[in-house]
Amino acid sequence: MTHSLLVCTTCASTWQNGKKVGVSGGEMLLKEISQLHQDWDRRSQFAIRPVSCMSACSHACVVTFASEGKYSYLFGDLPIDNDNILNTASAILSCAEIYSDRADGMLAWKERPEPLKSGVIARIPPLQDS
Ligand code: FES
Repeated sequence: MTHSLLVCTTCASTWQNGKKVGVSGGEMLLKEISQLHQDWDRRSQFAIRPVSCMSACSHACVVTFASEGKYSYLFGDLPIDNDNILNTASAILSCAEIYSDRADGMLAWKERPEPLKSGVIARIPPLQDS
């Protein structure tokens, strides 16, 4: 695995009396991504990693692309309602393909799938040049 796709599983949670109840939106998004990932031809290049929070909670749902020597991208405001969640999961993997093809990981606005055009929260430079 040379790349990681981090998926926040706490995003879009419902809380009652300080406890999370039911299945969160992030968990539903992770499930859709994981199902598509099984038949994805780039499967061996990306590890799907559930994480509990990436401190972008007001922008649920949130995912990050990361790889050594590449820019890291934190995307938020990803739609996960019933009409859009499958499209969002598919768009995330399409964008991941573009990310894996770029030596530096840079993702131009015009080449990103629609659900990921406006939701960039952070683009973090690589720790060192690749
Ligand atoms: S709960 Fe998802 S980023 Fe904090």
